[in-house]
Amino acid sequence: MKILVLHGPNLNLLGTREPGVYGRASLAEIDAQLVSWAQQRGISLRCVQSNHEGALVDSVQAAVSQQVDGVLINAAAYTHTSIALRDALLATALPFVEVHLSNIHGRERFRQRSLLADRAVGVVCGFGALSYRLGLEGLVAALERQADERN
Ligand code: DQA
Repeated sequence: MKILVLHGPNLNLLGTREPGVYGRASLAEIDAQLVSWAQQRGISLRCVQSNHEGALVDSVQAAVSQQVDGVLINAAAYTHTSIALRDALLATALPFVEVHLSNIHGRERFRQRSLLADRAVGVVCGFGALSYRLGLEGLVAALERQADERN
């Protein structure tokens, strides 16, 4: 199984960025935990971060030819604004899980709307770095279920 983890803008600053909201774990630490969890299960996992909307769209499009099975995405601020990212995910038809470190529903009104959530397999938010692990587990379980149904 092959998973792409996509991190949107400003997530490269995790560790020092508003630690009261996003916690103290750096992006490298979060990625290392995900890779280790995946490796123990024989899952190939690649992590990409970009501050640029088009680069995130490119990564989603490229995932198809890279035979990625599913996407774990924290689109950060683009969650609330990016029709382009939504369209890319729908165009590829790749199953994806949306994650957020913070509970976006308990924050400013503009963060409470996601342009991705209604098409996600599931959404996890509010658990800090753990949101990623929980989201990954959910995505893998959904992909395994899908594969079982095909066989
Ligand atoms: C975030 C929430 C977004 O509203 C914000 O723009 C982020 C991070 C989160 O993980 O909690 O950059 O996606």
